[in-house]
Amino acid sequence: MKKMLVAGLSLVLAFSLAACGEKKEATGASGGKKIMVATDASYAPMESMDKDKIVGFDIDFLAAVMKEAKLEYEVKNTGWDTMLESVKQGTEYQMGISSISITDERKGSYDFSVPYFESTNMILVKEGSPIKTALDLKDKKVAVQGATTADELMTKIMGNGNTNLKKYESNVLAFMELDLGGVDAAVADIAIVREYAKNNPKKKFVTIPDKTNFGAEFYGLAYPKGSDLKAKLDPAIKTVIENGTYAKMYKKWFGEEPNVSVLLN
Ligand code: ARG
Repeated sequence: MKKMLVAGLSLVLAFSLAACGEKKEATGASGGKKIMVATDASYAPMESMDKDKIVGFDIDFLAAVMKEAKLEYEVKNTGWDTMLESVKQGTEYQMGISSISITDERKGSYDFSVPYFESTNMILVKEGSPIKTALDLKDKKVAVQGATTADELMTKIMGNGNTNLKKYESNVLAFMELDLGGVDAAVADIAIVREYAKNNPKKKFVTIPDKTNFGAEFYGLAYPKGSDLKAKLDPAIKTVIENGTYAKMYKKWFGEEPNVSVLLN
């Protein structure tokens, strides 16, 4: 009897909480509409889940930019494919932040902010691997997150439709496949590859840069085409980079000074 009462009470509580949540989501404290931001929080140290919180360099950077622009927002972990699709539509989510490289192809479907981060792809292998460059991966098994620049670059090297290129919905799964020995290498963004190798010292991963086959990439915030957010946020991004806030966060997450001159020109 007591149990039933508790169950009934928590049901009522759950309902009223849900109702509150809905109201809160529609408008921000200032009464203006909150900007909904999508991310794929499985790309540490850029964006990842820490229990139920989304954390990472991108998340800190976003907070600084939105504060500078005086805009209210909420970030949600949608996963990569859903983020790409929903930001293109622009109905549920008005922008995406997720280490998204600005590419000519994507410019056909999104508007991008000014670049805020320099990156490149990097190879992850296990100790003792004979692989030296990306070209050595041509006839090997490689894991990537699907629909990323790593996927695009490796497709060019390995050939379209090559089933040895294993594409995963999440980068975590791609790295796990390498860990389990299902592939010879994984390819992802440099900061993520380095972080994973650093966090798993016992597994003896080796990180391989390849400046010849993997060029420089720049991350941007992605908006639906024609979004008015670009004009609002570009100046805020520049301020955060110029006033030293960016360098502070960069040092916090990567332990080194950023090269901001490549971003500000
Ligand atoms: N920079 C790469 C790209 O834009 C990979 C980004 C993946 N990001 C993520 N959160 N999984 O394609």
